[in-house]
Amino acid sequence: MIDLDEHVDLERGVMSRRVFVDDDIYRLELERIFSRSWLFLAHESQLPKSGSFVSTYMGEDPVIVVRRSDGSIGAVLNSCRHRGMKVCRADVGTTRVFRCSYHGWTYGLDGDLVSVPNMAEGYRNELDMSRWGLLRVPRVESYKGLVFGTWDAEAQPVEEALGDITFLLDTFLDRRPGGTEVIGGVQKWVMGGNWKLAAEQFASDMYHSFLLHASAWQSLAPEGADLSEMVFPSVGSQMTSQGSGGGWFHDPTGAGSAVLGPMLAADYTDPAVWERLGEVQAGGPIGCHATVFPNFSFLGAFRVLRVWHPRGPHEMEVWSWTLVDKDQSPEIKDAWRRFASMTFGPTGTFEQDDGEIWTDLQRVSRGHIAQTVDLNYQMGIGHEVTDHPDYPGRINHVYSDNAARGFYERWLELMKTPLRPGQRGNATARAGQEVTR
Ligand code: FES
Ligand code: FE
Repeated sequence: MIDLDEHVDLERGVMSRRVFVDDDIYRLELERIFSRSWLFLAHESQLPKSGSFVSTYMGEDPVIVVRRSDGSIGAVLNSCRHRGMKVCRADVGTTRVFRCSYHGWTYGLDGDLVSVPNMAEGYRNELDMSRWGLLRVPRVESYKGLVFGTWDAEAQPVEEALGDITFLLDTFLDRRPGGTEVIGGVQKWVMGGNWKLAAEQFASDMYHSFLLHASAWQSLAPEGADLSEMVFPSVGSQMTSQGSGGGWFHDPTGAGSAVLGPMLAADYTDPAVWERLGEVQAGGPIGCHATVFPNFSFLGAFRVLRVWHPRGPHEMEVWSWTLVDKDQSPEIKDAWRRFASMTFGPTGTFEQDDGEIWTDLQRVSRGHIAQTVDLNYQMGIGHEVTDHPDYPGRINHVYSDNAARGFYERWLELMKTPLRPGQRGNATARAGQEVTR
C-alpha cells in the first residue's frame, strides 16, 4: 500500500498526482471515506408521499431512498439478497413494493422481504424471510430539506457533522420561510477525471473563474457590455472546516448578479432575503461556491446542487439539480432552471470549461513521469485566520488553496484511520455479518 504521507504534505502545500490515479488509494477511499461519511442522498421534495423513491449511490453502492408508510425517509442497498440484482431499476417513481426482476423476490418499502416465488416447492417453506431483507442504511437524517445517509451507525448527527458549512448552506436553503424544492429532475453525465478534482475545485477554486470562464462570462454579459468593462470583484473570503469549504466575494451584487438578468438579479438580491439572512451571510456568502465533504457541492448564485459520484480513479458520474425557493413564482423558478441548465447543465457554458480541464488533468496525471512531479497547493499558506469576527472556520482570501488543504486534511485523517473492527464496510473483516438479517 502506498504511503500517503509521502504523497500528501499539507504543511508544505505539495501533493503527488498519485492520489488521483492510484487504484489502491481509490479502493481505500470507498472503504474509509464513502462507507462512513454522511453522503447526500436526495432532497425531501423528491419524495412527496408514501412510496415515493429515488435511486442513487453511496460511493459505488446503489441505494434506494424511499418515503415509508409512516412518512419517514429510509434508504436500503439496491441489491437483492438472492443473487444480488438491483431490485429497483427506475431512477424515480412511486411504488408499494420493490420486486426483483430476476426471480421475483419482493421487498416492502422498509426493505423487509415480503414474498418469494415458489416458496413451498423450492424452499419447502424453510427460508427464514426475516433474515433476508435488503440491507438498510442505518442512519438517514435531513438538514433543511437535504437528506443524507451514512453506513456508520455510530456517526454523529448530520447537523453536527456538517458543522460550520451550515453557515454557507443556510444562505441557499433558508432564504425564504417556505424552504426549497428541486425542480426539473436530475441531470446526470459521466466525465473523465477523479471525483476529488471536482470536489476540491468547488470547495476552493475561485482562482480559475475569470480566466477559464472568460468566454462564458462574456456570453452572459448584458447586451452591449464589454467583458473588460465588467468589474470583477477581487475582495472575498474562503473558509474551510471539517473538510468542507467554500469561497465568496464580499460584493455579491457585482459582476455575478449583472449576468443574471433583471428578473433573477431582483430575486437574488431581494431585500426580504437580505433581511432574513442578515448582512453577513447575505453580503457575500449567498453567492458562494462550496463543497460539503466529501462529494456534495453547491453554487449559491446559480442555484445548482451537485454530487460527484466516484467511478474508479479515472472517472466520475456527475448528478446535478436546480434548487429554488418554494415560495417563489413559477416564472422565476423556471427562469432559474433555465439559467442553471444554460450555465452548469451538462452542455452548460461554465460546465464545459471545467469538465474539459478535469478530463485533461486526469489524462496528464496518468503519465509515469508526471506522477513524479508534485503539484502546488501553497496559495495563502501561513496567512489563514481562525478567529474571524464574521465567518466561522479557517478563513483566507477567496483566492487561496486554504479550502483545498482543509479538504485533504480531512481526507488524509479518514484515510489513515481504519474502520472499527466489524464495522460495515471494513473490507478486512467481512464486516457486520452479525447484523445481517
Ligand atoms: Fe433477485 Fe434472484 S436475484 S430474485
Ligand atoms: Fe469553474
